[in-house]
Amino acid sequence: SDFQHIGNTLLHWYKENARDLPFRQTKDPYKIWICEIVFQQTRINQGLNHYNNFIKRFPDVKTLADADEDEVLLHWKGLGYYSRAINIHKAAKQIMTDYNGSFPSDYEEILKLKGVGKYTAAAVSSICFDGKMPAVDGNFYRVLSRFFADDFDISNSKAFNYFSELATLIMPEKVGDFNQAMMDLGSEICKPKNPLCGECPINQNCLAFSLEKISSFPVKTKK
Ligand code: ADE
Repeated sequence: SDFQHIGNTLLHWYKENARDLPFRQTKDPYKIWICEIVFQQTRINQGLNHYNNFIKRFPDVKTLADADEDEVLLHWKGLGYYSRAINIHKAAKQIMTDYNGSFPSDYEEILKLKGVGKYTAAAVSSICFDGKMPAVDGNFYRVLSRFFADDFDISNSKAFNYFSELATLIMPEKVGDFNQAMMDLGSEICKPKNPLCGECPINQNCLAFSLEKISSFPVKTKK
């Protein structure tokens, strides 16, 4: 599309500005899966120690599957949303029984794991296996609605599909890096409040920025 160069601009920006996070040094799908579950609902600074401790105690699928649920929950302490830990434990057992202990590589298969939704399946498959699905989350909603000055209501149940389509307009070949670039842009630059538009690598093409309407996006009618 006309916007494909935007994705490449983001990749270039990401190369220079990617946050130095422990899970960025691996393509181990087990570690990426855990990090996506942890950091989808917990801020990086807040969850990093817990993530590192969890990986130290449960370094692979088998170790996690063989552990007692009580101990898994103990290591999850401080992260909250305990159902996430219970699901992670169940999914590890699922990988042992259904996939012989080797992490599934396909988006549709990853999606079958307990507690894994479309965002997580897209993130793991793209980062670890060169899968081509955008990992659409709140960062995507915010960046894309501003970039296109698009007033589609993000509380609408069709928002996920709608913004997935918009994402494909700017998505380059390297989808794993693109997904992580969007996460970093959304949390460091295109922030909900006081975005740093002056530092944004795609501000020249951002419609809301040129209209001086950044604060009007994203549109959200319901809580
Ligand atoms: N938040 C959740 N997953 C992330 C990732 N892979 N990179 C940056 N922030 C994230």
